[in-house]
Amino acid sequence: MKTFKFAVLPGDGIGPEVMEVALAVLKAAGEKFDFAIEYESADIGGIAIDNHGTAFPDSTRAVCDASEAILFGSVGGPKWESLPPKEQPERAALLPIRKAYSLYANVRPGLLYPQLTEASPLKKERIPNGIDIVCIRELTCGIYFGQPKSTTTLENGEQRAIDTMVYQTSEIERIAQVAIETAMARGRRVCSVDKANVLETSVLWRKVVTEYFQQNAPAIELSHMYVDNAAMQLARDPNQFDVLFTENMFGDILSDEMGVICGSLGMLASASLGAEKNSLGFPFGLYEPSGGTAPDIAGKGIANPCAQILSAALMLRYSFGELEAAAAIEAAVEKAVTSGTRTGDIAFGLDPVSTKAMGDAVLDQL
Ligand code: IPM
Ligand code: MN
Repeated sequence: MKTFKFAVLPGDGIGPEVMEVALAVLKAAGEKFDFAIEYESADIGGIAIDNHGTAFPDSTRAVCDASEAILFGSVGGPKWESLPPKEQPERAALLPIRKAYSLYANVRPGLLYPQLTEASPLKKERIPNGIDIVCIRELTCGIYFGQPKSTTTLENGEQRAIDTMVYQTSEIERIAQVAIETAMARGRRVCSVDKANVLETSVLWRKVVTEYFQQNAPAIELSHMYVDNAAMQLARDPNQFDVLFTENMFGDILSDEMGVICGSLGMLASASLGAEKNSLGFPFGLYEPSGGTAPDIAGKGIANPCAQILSAALMLRYSFGELEAAAAIEAAVEKAVTSGTRTGDIAFGLDPVSTKAMGDAVLDQL
């Protein structure tokens, strides 16, 4: 039997409780589709600061190095917010781990099942058939990582902070390739989002993307949009998009907007893929919910585990080539959240849910 070996980094907040459910679903999928899972857990984020003095300890890195993929929970919380910004879990764990494995391609599916249109803040008429788009976000360059990045004190006592947005041709081309592959498997339409009316990096982005698509993907319909307009269009008519394709910070912002119009951040999975292949010949990747640690509901058993479960499905698809099992998990989640079953007064698919009941419902459908 095949054995899939991955690192489990539950992190903080709701991370551990939703991770537990996702692992149970993976195990059940393995029984059905004939594979075994083997994982090693390690601390990341705030809990790693508490236990090891640093958010991304060497011991955690070693666990990831020995794995074929990383299943990630979420990091951060009020307990660590008073630390200097550079030491806080988000910056000291998530960004370094993305960089360490060159996870430049962030794939965020924005899916709202037609039965759940009421969960979206958008009017039903705008999304009669739900939402089905995907955001491809560049993840290891741009203003998040560009140098110089500093805060200094000027002679007059004022403080001055600098972030630098940097992109170069090869960094744009490799993510353009991911957008192309994603679009080829869907509706063959890519909307590239930039701010080329103001930013040099965006002027380059638009030029490189245009040329790259002309040469490598003539079958794809490519359009360009300024990011302010894209934010508005996403709220006005999200299904005009098939693949939304953009740089790091714009993708961060637009993917949260996508999350809310899709009804719940608790439903949004993500895959971060890089250049490295694992020993099975598939991309090494990190799989995490897009939502965050939700400290306000952590430990209460009401966090929606679907984003974590769907992230595990993406791991099966991209890093283990287990397409059938991935699709089966996705179908089970869809059935579980649209079956109308209720846990107490809480409707599935809307936040909050009962974590356990939602997990059981997915297992039932698998
Ligand atoms: C995300 C998060 C992170 C980001 C933060 C926590 C560093 O918001 O994954 O979208 O900005 O990339
Ligand atoms: Mn974000």
